[in-house]
Amino acid sequence: MRKLPTLATARLSLRPFLLSDAATVQRLAGERAVADTTLTIPHPYADGMAESWIATHEGAWTRHESATLAITAQDAGLVGAIALRIELPQRRAELGYWIGMPFWNQGYATEAARAIIGFGFAQLSLQRIYAHHFVRNPASGRVMEKAGLRHEGVLRGHFFRWGIPEDVAVWGMLAGDPR
Ligand SMILES: CC(C)(COP(=O)(O)OP(=O)(O)OC[C@H]1O[C@@H](n2cnc3c(N)ncnc32)[C@H](O)[C@@H]1OP(=O)(O)O)[C@@H](O)C(=O)NCCC(=O)NCCS
Repeated sequence: MRKLPTLATARLSLRPFLLSDAATVQRLAGERAVADTTLTIPHPYADGMAESWIATHEGAWTRHESATLAITAQDAGLVGAIALRIELPQRRAELGYWIGMPFWNQGYATEAARAIIGFGFAQLSLQRIYAHHFVRNPASGRVMEKAGLRHEGVLRGHFFRWGIPEDVAVWGMLAGDPR
């Protein structure tokens, strides 16, 4: 697949980010509460960061490093982001996502996760998809559970965020697991 795909679900379209999404990304991902439970979202989210991030997506896809898609809802537009960080030699990928605060608890992360997991197994021939969340972020664990991943364990103090070590839950799914 040369270009990043677009994936349709009942309520969502997961599509490549456009540079014109940058202001919305900055507003939604710029909330401290969204950055707080991620490892990679910068805070504060300065002007230009969203454009720089979006500009990396096609190249990373072409190099088989990642598939990053905008989560868009029919009425609300851009509500979040979802990605597979791909390790092709191992036929595995790490799932990550965020949803803007106005759109939390509407099932969007779960719906998007199911779609990109299906894509990863069917189109990328992955053998394993896994994900991490901070133990203090049970909503993300619930998303993983609803998307069909299994809880595999807890890595104590595995990551630092804001200078503080975080206990991290690991979830995973294999291609043959029931979905
Ligand atoms: C985690 C996040 C992606 C969830 O997105 P979402 O679209 O609200 O998720 P969904 O609506 O699909 O599912 C959320 C589930 O968590 C549950 N939940 C919400 N807050 C919770 C809490 N404090 N404790 C336990 N469960 C909680 C919801 O009830 C829902 O489960 P249910 O369907 O059984 O009721 C979103 O909160 C977010 O972007 N947070 C900041 C960034 C982040 O943490 N990203 C993930 C990093 S691992």
